[in-house]
Amino acid sequence: MRDYREFLGEVLIPEDKLQARIAELGAQISRDYVGKDPILVCILRGGVLFLTDLMRKITIPHSIEFMAVSSYGVGGRQSSGKVRISLDLNVDIQNRNVILVEDIIDSGYTIAAVYDLLTTRKPASICVCTLLDKADRREVPVAVKYTGFSIPNKFVFGYGLDIDDYYRNLPFIGVVDLEKYQAGA
Ligand code: PRP
Repeated sequence: MRDYREFLGEVLIPEDKLQARIAELGAQISRDYVGKDPILVCILRGGVLFLTDLMRKITIPHSIEFMAVSSYGVGGRQSSGKVRISLDLNVDIQNRNVILVEDIIDSGYTIAAVYDLLTTRKPASICVCTLLDKADRREVPVAVKYTGFSIPNKFVFGYGLDIDDYYRNLPFIGVVDLEKYQAGA
């Protein structure tokens, strides 16, 4: 696998800014959910780094769960508009306060599908917390309660976001220089 420096166009959000914003979100959630013992539901796989850093900044009792969702067809990076739940929750969320944790919302199809599904299970409340929001790309409306950063429509990677399943480990959000990326492919 190639070194990401070969095609890194720019660092969009450096590690210190990411972590500072995540600390703010954790503090906000800690204030908003006092006495509510929320369940953070991480959408695999991209949300994992965000979840694990966010939960360390949440100072009230909470639990974590995971869901995996995949979009059907239409190759690689585009959402098709249809999603399939490939890993469901292990717990009953009825009367619980659910916070959906995502790395990025793009078209909105993924989080909208999860939101609608979990709403049918009658949680006390449900909301969305996303690290990144590409609002320009939205195709379905999504009510987002907590947003880390609103970002432009660029091909981003790192901090949970992959390129062909690699580079999720990078501690910053980078932008792919597509010319350089395609030149080396
Ligand atoms: C990414 C991301 C969101 C979704 C956002 O997941 O983690 O779940 O796409 O796109 P949407 O708003 O257009 O639905 P992806 O399907 O790439 O899987 P991954 O998290 O395993 O990388």
